[in-house]
Amino acid sequence: MSRLTSQARSVSDALETRFSCRAFLDKPVPEDDIRYILQTALRAPSGGNLQPWHVWVVKGAQLASFVDEIKGKMTDNPGGEGSEYHIYPPDLADPYNTRRRDIGERMYATIGVAREDKLGRLAQMARNFEFFGAPCAMFFALDKSMQEGQWSDMGMIIQSIMLLARERGLHSCPQEAWAIWAPSVKKFLDIPDTMTFFCGLALGYADPDAPINMLETPRAPIEEMVRFVGFSD
Ligand SMILES: Cc1cc2nc3c(=O)[nH]c(=O)nc-3n(C[C@H](O)[C@H](O)[C@H](O)COP(=O)(O)O)c2cc1C
Repeated sequence: MSRLTSQARSVSDALETRFSCRAFLDKPVPEDDIRYILQTALRAPSGGNLQPWHVWVVKGAQLASFVDEIKGKMTDNPGGEGSEYHIYPPDLADPYNTRRRDIGERMYATIGVAREDKLGRLAQMARNFEFFGAPCAMFFALDKSMQEGQWSDMGMIIQSIMLLARERGLHSCPQEAWAIWAPSVKKFLDIPDTMTFFCGLALGYADPDAPINMLETPRAPIEEMVRFVGFSD
C-alpha cells in the first residue's frame, strides 16, 4: 500500500511505553535490530534536510573498556572534564527548575535514596557512566557551525531512535550526563574538534524488576503548554 494512503499501526503505543530506562538486563541486542533502528531513524526530518546528526554506536569489548576508563577517571574527578555546552541554562527559572527538582526527588525515592544522602545520589549519577548496564550505547555529535535549529534536529533523530527501539522490544535512556566527559568521549571515538559532543544513549532490554524502572514521570497539563487558537471550547 502506498504511504500516501496507508494508516500507521501505532506511534501512540511507542510513545506511551517509552520511558528513560535506568536499569538494563545483561542481554545482547541483535545487530539487525540496531541497524534497522538506525537506518529507519535516518528518515527523521531536519530543517533544509541538512541531516546534521553524527552517530556512533558501540557495543562489546570496546564499550566495556570505555566504561572502565571513565570509571577510573571518576575516582579522581567525579565532576567530569566539562561539557562543551550548557546542559541546562545557568539560572534555571521556574517552572523548569521545580520540574527538574521534582523528577530528581521522584527518581531517588524509587531507590530509597534520601535528599541528604549525597553519596547515594552520586552513586546513582555514576550509573549513567555504565550506561545503566545497557549492552549497546550511542553517542551524538554535530558540527560546531550548526545553530539552534540543527540542535532541534538532533532531538528529531534521537526521539526517532527511541520510538523505533520500542518496536523491537527495546528500551533506551538519552544521556546528557555524558557531556561532562566530552574530551574523553571525543578521544575514544575520534570525534574531530570541529564537532560538539551532545549526548549519549543507552539501548537494551529493560530490567523489569529494577525499582528505578518503576518511576512514573508526570507531565504538566496540556493547558500549560498548548494554546489553542481558533478552536471552540
Ligand atoms: C536530551 C536528554 C538528555 C537526558 N539526559 C539524561 C541523563 O543524562 N541521565 C538520565 O538519567 N536521564 C536523562 N534524561 C531523561 C530525562 O530525565 C527524562 O526524559 C524525563 O525525566 C522524562 O522521563 P521519561 O523519559 O521517563 O518520560 C534525558 C532526557 C533527554 C531528552
